[in-house]
Amino acid sequence: MSHTIVIFGASGDLTSRKLVPALYSLARSGDLPAGTRIVGFSRTVLTDDAWRETLLESTRRHAEGFDAASWPAFAASIHYQPGDIANRDDLVRLKQRLEELELGGDATRVYYLATAPQFYEPVVAALGSLGMAVETRGPRRIVVEKPFGTDLATARQLNTQLHAVFAESQVYRIDHYLGKESVQNILALRFANTIFEPVWNRRYVDHVQITVAEEVPVGRRGGYYDSAGVLRDMFQNHLLQLLMVTAMEAPVRFQANAVRNEKVKVLEAIRSLDLAEVAAAGVRGQYQGYLTEPGVDPASRTPTFGALRLEVDNWRWQGVPFYLRSGKSMSCRTTQIVIGFRQPPLELFTTAPRRLAREANRLVIQIQPAEGIQLHFHTKVPGEGMQLRLTDLEFSYSREFSGRLPEAYEPLLLDVLTGDASLFARSDEVEKSWEIIDPFVRAWSSVDMPPIDSYQPGDWGPQASADWMAAQGRTWFDMCPVLT
Ligand code: BG6
Repeated sequence: MSHTIVIFGASGDLTSRKLVPALYSLARSGDLPAGTRIVGFSRTVLTDDAWRETLLESTRRHAEGFDAASWPAFAASIHYQPGDIANRDDLVRLKQRLEELELGGDATRVYYLATAPQFYEPVVAALGSLGMAVETRGPRRIVVEKPFGTDLATARQLNTQLHAVFAESQVYRIDHYLGKESVQNILALRFANTIFEPVWNRRYVDHVQITVAEEVPVGRRGGYYDSAGVLRDMFQNHLLQLLMVTAMEAPVRFQANAVRNEKVKVLEAIRSLDLAEVAAAGVRGQYQGYLTEPGVDPASRTPTFGALRLEVDNWRWQGVPFYLRSGKSMSCRTTQIVIGFRQPPLELFTTAPRRLAREANRLVIQIQPAEGIQLHFHTKVPGEGMQLRLTDLEFSYSREFSGRLPEAYEPLLLDVLTGDASLFARSDEVEKSWEIIDPFVRAWSSVDMPPIDSYQPGDWGPQASADWMAAQGRTWFDMCPVLT
């Protein structure tokens, strides 16, 4: 059966920076099913050829290893239908166009919502009223981008709107973090090996740190960011996804619902906190200079940095804090998960430097950049006495595998085409995530909160973040990856 991808919001940034370059790369590597059509829909009036020209330029910039010779064959699969989501006639024309392109036959159709979020509901309603979600002529799937709501109430509402037209099995809520090779590799590390499982629990793990630090400021996205803030922008989705894959139990099989059942159980185990506890379970910050970014309210209290402590109350993790932190304008771009192991029960080597007391074993999963994994352990320094030093075993993607790492959107788009929802969020999963994040959003925006701490661009967040960790007897693992 042939495939059609319909992109709503075709003239937007996401389409030109991520979606089309990913589809191009898949076509180039021969992974895109033959005959896949891409149909863009948006208000800008363009012909097929004019859209292809625009996409040629953006794909050249954004697809790694772009090769002009392979463009014409790919471009032939691109089509454009101008129209306004609010105009039913335009959608009827889109429907007719799709049927023409599919030659009236069966096809797997993927509707991709790459529009601003306020258009999700009208698109879904229109697809429903025109019978475009019905699966008599092949599967019909819908991909929903983030933000999926702005809190629990709006996420529920969006789920209800989707479910009025699509069955849950047709809905693909995308979180591009799950498309990253190094994130999927956490599943391989944990469930394709036996050596980590015996220590992956409260008996051996002291705490877990999940950091998504970005060096860039909010830049041109100030308008959106100022109403979202770091909790909605990064924690509700990407950081909680990383927590889930780190903490989940092994699914009984690698199949969408089995995987998602285990992920949801992690969210269900996260302790809910009352207002006073919420305030103590996190630190917020704003980088200096944020208030003068375009689109940002000069009196804004929106956090651009956040650190949270979450407790996962289950047999595996009870008593092991999960520290989550993320921010803009930080020291460097790094996404990493640090499994901090416990100290040995007895310190035998008294000549060891005192810092040994703090530096226990660590497993550092470097998600990006410099993707890889390092295991840190103590080694005797050659010479007299038991001088110890932390050394490491290292696995690096770039050393081990040649060629580029696929962009996150590539495997995810393929999964949608083939109908594998394992790496997409289910309705209960997004709702649970909001349930966890909402109290922090509420507490942090409360007028009773003290003024927000500031930090210098290039720092690891405000000083309060390091102090807060120190007060808990721990330190952040502040390490920029070494790019080779
Ligand atoms: C997006 C956020 O979801 O993820 C951005 O809206 C953020 O603010 C981006 O910069 C980070 O993604 P990546 O893949 O660059 O880590």
